[in-house]
Amino acid sequence: MKNLLSITDLDRDDLETMLSLSEDFLHVTERDIPKVPALQGKVVVSLFYEDSTRTRISFETAAKRLSCDVMSFSVGSSSVNKGEGLRDTVQTIAAMGVDAVVVRHSAAGAPNRVASWIDASIINAGDGSHEHPTQALLDLLTLRRKRGSDLSGLRVAIVGDIVHSRVARSLVLGLDAVGAHTTLVAPPTLLPDSLEGWPVDVTHDLDSLLPELDVLYLLRIQRERQSASRLPSLREYTARWGLTVERASRLKPDTLVMHPGPMNRGVEIAAEVAEGPASLIKEQVTNGVAVRMAVLYTLLGSGGTVA
Ligand code: NCD
Repeated sequence: MKNLLSITDLDRDDLETMLSLSEDFLHVTERDIPKVPALQGKVVVSLFYEDSTRTRISFETAAKRLSCDVMSFSVGSSSVNKGEGLRDTVQTIAAMGVDAVVVRHSAAGAPNRVASWIDASIINAGDGSHEHPTQALLDLLTLRRKRGSDLSGLRVAIVGDIVHSRVARSLVLGLDAVGAHTTLVAPPTLLPDSLEGWPVDVTHDLDSLLPELDVLYLLRIQRERQSASRLPSLREYTARWGLTVERASRLKPDTLVMHPGPMNRGVEIAAEVAEGPASLIKEQVTNGVAVRMAVLYTLLGSGGTVA
């Protein structure tokens, strides 16, 4: 395996292997010195054309914990501002000798194009509204650590801004691969025009689902990608689809609450619920580092032992 462009690059066995390896790396990250020499000398570049806090830092931390050399490219301070195109930028970076490039871009398919231009391994860290495979992996790891390695039959609702969400697309495919059952919940204007091929049920009614769910996964309302016509007022959104304290009280006691971040507190999720005992939001972030270590190790490692 050379690149990770889509969660579908991993079949069910690959997913299980990647998640088990992530658990091994989670133990590494819990050590006093959370670092192994596994990828010493390998060079990883993070190439982010869109804003990011957790994904970029998570990848860079993961690479450093594997003893890679890490270079960071930010559009704001680069020759992109002098008009350099993606292909020239990528080929310039590749000419310096890099082993992996972690790409985030607002255009769907940008990481695939980058992969066709250079020899380094390419990891998709989010392309437009298309895919975000390492987010799906970290979400599966988080569920697996709570519910055990058999996630089949798990009832999951993904709620919110589905149409703009690369997180939803990758997660739906990942959940399907492990046998979980997903329902998408959103106002009609925040669903894609066609859901053909999505292995999901769809409803506009969150309230009727609440008592049945094992996992409630909230998505951020992506205000930066929103056209005014799609979204009712934020207040109306919260009233019908927000995980308020009152709604949370109607979940089963063991329902897990997740969100990929960044959160709009008080819009899709109440602050009290985000901080509450059902919330796995901090674990998701922690697990993200271990998953990205596993991905880098799988793509760049020699196949030897982890530590
Ligand atoms: C997401 C993203 O950028 O796709 N965040 C993340 O990577 N954790 C989701 C979002 O921006 O809402």
